Amino acid sequence: MATNGSARPASDERIGTAIILAAGEGTRMKSAVPKVLHTLASKTFLRRIMESVGQLQPDVTAVVVHHGRDAVAAEAQAVLSSVTVIDQDDLPGTGRAVWCAMDQIGEQAVRSGKPVLITAADMPLLDAQTLGGLLAEHVRSGNAATILTTILDNPFGYGRIVRDESGNVVRIVEERDANGEQRAIHEVNTSVYVFDPSVLQASIRNLDTNNDQNEFYLTDALEYARTIGKVGTYAAPDSLAVQGVNDRVQLSHLAKAHNVRTCEKWMREGVDILDPDTTWIDDDVVIGRDAQILPGCFLHGSTKIGEATVVGPYTTLIDATVGKDAHVERARIQETSIGDRANIGPWSYLRPGNVLAADTKAGSFVEMKKAIIDEGTKVPHLSYVGDSHIGPHTNIGGGTITANYDGKHKNHTEIGANVHVGAGNMFVAPVTVGDNVTTGSGAVVRHDVSDGSMVYSENTQHEVKNWLPKDER
Ligand code: UD1
Ligand code: CA
Repeated sequence: MATNGSARPASDERIGTAIILAAGEGTRMKSAVPKVLHTLASKTFLRRIMESVGQLQPDVTAVVVHHGRDAVAAEAQAVLSSVTVIDQDDLPGTGRAVWCAMDQIGEQAVRSGKPVLITAADMPLLDAQTLGGLLAEHVRSGNAATILTTILDNPFGYGRIVRDESGNVVRIVEERDANGEQRAIHEVNTSVYVFDPSVLQASIRNLDTNNDQNEFYLTDALEYARTIGKVGTYAAPDSLAVQGVNDRVQLSHLAKAHNVRTCEKWMREGVDILDPDTTWIDDDVVIGRDAQILPGCFLHGSTKIGEATVVGPYTTLIDATVGKDAHVERARIQETSIGDRANIGPWSYLRPGNVLAADTKAGSFVEMKKAIIDEGTKVPHLSYVGDSHIGPHTNIGGGTITANYDGKHKNHTEIGANVHVGAGNMFVAPVTVGDNVTTGSGAVVRHDVSDGSMVYSENTQHEVKNWLPKDER
């Protein structure tokens, strides 16, 4: 295939059409959600496979849908707006799925003459390198069809590759249709193939339902393809990449194995991960060297963690950016940017839209939403800051709340630089407080405050002497 280990094929070995099979129900998942919309490391199986296939730059990408049609089609379109959605009819089987696809786009595929890639959508770790290797082997060998295979210690449930004495592929036999001798074969079909388009077009029309499930098996197309040209195999170099998910036990094993690899990759890049068993990292997360990830962390989406930053224990970051030398502990943080040397947690909850500058603090039991916190400003204890901007080097006393909601609208609170907010303040938005202001404990700030002022609220203390009856004193 292409040079330098790149997944992008040279122009003479380009996929013309990719057909992704996503019409199955996935009964063994026992779920209201179609199988291909289940997730591994926060991405749906369908998105994962479409992203891998997309790296091979096919001219046409088709996704075959049926069960959970609208939801599956919507996800396919969300990944690739130019996707061709093919509706499979009520006749079941992987072969029928390809038949329906070829009815719609077969003519165009045959005209282009370029190879057709077919893949199941329930293989969340199938990567572009594996697909590129399969395509390169197909082109190199001049095969009419090439099957992506793997050898499994436990081949149970997979279609077995049956060969003749000279090693030629004769057919693929499904587990439930196999005899004892065939079940002993460890070389299995992964459900990924490259076909010459005219061979596929001819083979697909010869399928029948003479099998244990009374379905149209795509695997039977290989037997026919063999009468037209050569059918070969390409053994996947990485068996994890070709494992299918049929139930949640397989999903959890695969997700675990993938996460182990992700953690090991980051450790090799210079990140300390104290306990990979309880650390879960999504594929697109980026972590700086000498960062330390303590146990019980979930790093999701596009999260970025700066160098020498300590995250955890027990912290969830979703699409969050954390600067260098910051410290985030027992926090849940979403779509928030946190500056260098900032200190977050424990028990902080930062909802979307916050920007915390360098040397800031969001301490224990602090919740923020759409809060812009300038350099050096600290919100150390028991506060809610929402729809607010707080200038630099301000300190917010414990228990302070921005009352941002008047029952109809969310309103803004503006607090200046070098402000000393006493404990238990209430800022009733919309309200603006200038620079160098001091507020007394328990102040309820309803009106704007000018620079340099001191503000406090009347809050008369009354004392009733001898309140308790005598016998209880
Ligand atoms: C299939 C292969 C088997 C292979 C295994 C690898 C066939 C007959 N068998 O079996 O040889 O070892 O994959 O995992 O092909 N689908 C449709 N329409 C349908 C049925 C399925 O689009 O009518 C899609 C599913 O959404 C799924 C894929 O095809 O993405 C595979 O279907 P599945 O039912 O999981 O096939 P297996 O029984 O695993
Ligand atoms: Ca399967």
